[in-house]
Amino acid sequence: MRKPHITLTGITTTGTPHLGNYVGAIKPAILASKDEGQYFYFLADYHALIKTQDAERVHQSTREIAATWLALGLDTDKAVFYRQSDVPQIPELTWFLTCTAAKGLMNRAHAYKDAVQKNLDADQDPDFAVTMGLFSYPILMAADILVFNATHVPVGRDQIQHIEMARDIAQRFNHQYGKHFNIPEAVIGQEGSVLKGLDGRKMSKSYDNTIPLFLTEKKLQKHINKIKTNLLEPGEPKDTKDSALFEIWCAFADADQKTWMADEFANGIAWGQAKKELFALVNTELEEPRVRYMELLETPELIEQKLQEGGEKARVLAAPLLEKLRDAVGIRALG
Ligand code: TRP
Repeated sequence: MRKPHITLTGITTTGTPHLGNYVGAIKPAILASKDEGQYFYFLADYHALIKTQDAERVHQSTREIAATWLALGLDTDKAVFYRQSDVPQIPELTWFLTCTAAKGLMNRAHAYKDAVQKNLDADQDPDFAVTMGLFSYPILMAADILVFNATHVPVGRDQIQHIEMARDIAQRFNHQYGKHFNIPEAVIGQEGSVLKGLDGRKMSKSYDNTIPLFLTEKKLQKHINKIKTNLLEPGEPKDTKDSALFEIWCAFADADQKTWMADEFANGIAWGQAKKELFALVNTELEEPRVRYMELLETPELIEQKLQEGGEKARVLAAPLLEKLRDAVGIRALG
């Protein structure tokens, strides 16, 4: 019999979910979790500390991201939904892995290398503002994955290197102490799963071009009106290629709606009209979860309770492996 997949992914709690996160990660993850197999989805709040020292932001983001997944209907009986910091086995495993992972491997991590390069370009000390958290980030991420022996890890392209490092780290530990870990695989979203933002570049917090997922209708309309178009007049045919508006449309449309909008473009739909249509389409999909989201944000104790339950499940599932690993490295009762 084929071994069932163990799928795991984490979301760093530094921001407010936007349409790009929804289309590229959250929606497919919630959908996938209805299939057979085991699913672990977690709030990577330890990772957040690497990116920001703004405590309020980490706290607020944790609340918003958790509320988002719950409002969108994640089945927490099926998927284990938890906060990284509620699972002490993760930092413990991080240390075990830190003691076998090669420093030279960490030297090659893109995020760390970019920080060093920025310093060099600015005639700074190469280590300026580089924390050990940033340097060791791939080890924490490997521990997230290996603590549940995940086999499949859905991530964006920017994270592929980290999965490769997790594989490397797992192999090295296995080689040293016996085969404890599966070697995880990255699962990359299909073409079109990366949404364009207001300015036509990839929708990303760092470009400040996002459309937050749960806005009031009025604000959603306002954001959609800000999507960059061109100077073509109503009646002039418009190109769907490279159009952020068309791309966002397609992320929410069914096959007929896609064809319809492509025809409208060819027939010279006015940009204002296209934006009205887009608002209606997006709003229809988000209307119901938006109500649940607002309710959840007003009752954070309900979110907390779900996370407590998920944390307990996660600890129970992680504990036996950590017992084995402690024994394997020589940390065990005397006599
Ligand atoms: N580093 C990932 C990101 O920034 C988030 C993350 C943390 C993650 N731990 C993980 C993703 C484990 C997959 C598996 O997107």
